[in-house]
Amino acid sequence: MAPLDTQTALVTGASSGIGRATVSALAARGANVVLAARREPQLREISAEIESDYDVETLVVPTDVREESEITALVEETVDAFDRLDVVVNNAGIVADMMERFEEMSTESYRAIMETNTDGVFFLTRETLPHLKENNGTLVFVGSFTGKYPTPYSPVYAASKAWVSHFANCIDAYVGDDGVAVSTVTPSETRTGLGGEDTGTSMAERYEPGEASEPEELAEAIAFVATQDTSTVSELDLFRPGRFSDTFG
Ligand SMILES: NC(=O)c1ccc[n+]([C@@H]2O[C@H](COP(=O)([O-])OP(=O)(O)OC[C@H]3O[C@@H](n4cnc5c(N)ncnc54)[C@H](OP(=O)(O)O)[C@@H]3O)[C@@H](O)[C@H]2O)c1
Repeated sequence: MAPLDTQTALVTGASSGIGRATVSALAARGANVVLAARREPQLREISAEIESDYDVETLVVPTDVREESEITALVEETVDAFDRLDVVVNNAGIVADMMERFEEMSTESYRAIMETNTDGVFFLTRETLPHLKENNGTLVFVGSFTGKYPTPYSPVYAASKAWVSHFANCIDAYVGDDGVAVSTVTPSETRTGLGGEDTGTSMAERYEPGEASEPEELAEAIAFVATQDTSTVSELDLFRPGRFSDTFG
């Protein structure tokens, strides 16, 4: 029996990068997977691939994590379809301040980051925690190197990710011995679509293979934390080669 057989996993930001790879890694371990993000065509394509590659069911729920009502509907549809929820991956995130001098950063960029990276995480965590408590489930947050170590390049993004890590630890304290495992997986530079909309150059275009982490490596880390039996992986840092020897990458 695969470790996540009969379980249901929900992944936000499933249309690209780390989220997309995570859907695959969880399906490979037997989970039925719910794919959430805004771009429905990408979600449908990934869902078809997963169902043909693995013996699992998928559900596509186009969702904007900034919208509270869409998160409520996402969780309702999940539980209606699968009758349970065991793994939640709070992965959707954006960086919108990589190229702006801080003094010129628009309020629109600030709000977009905060609404996606913090409001969305709050809505989903609040809505899913009761289901995770029922099933001794796992709640995974995707942090960032920049949320742990200061950066001059994207201060609002970095601070939003520090919020995510601290929120995760506080939720861990809150659930106490309720049986929910709470984990933060922390990437540094990873070859995904991140930054593409903001700067015109995504992380996948910015780094050659071998210079940065691959989304599949982060997905394996997330699957690892989601398949622990008794112990909880509190924080798992997976950084690109040489991360501490550079000032920027
Ligand atoms: N790549 C890196 O170097 C790196 C480093 C540290 C941390 N991270 C973190 O890793 C996570 C995943 O990012 P990635 O690197 O895989 O980037 P990515 O390829 O750009 O994927 C981001 C995902 O988030 C989704 N998303 C963005 N805004 C959304 C919204 N309002 N509602 C729902 N979904 C939304 C996107 O889907 P739609 O556009 O279809 O909505 C996409 O699926 C993020 O939290 C990011 O901060 C990445």
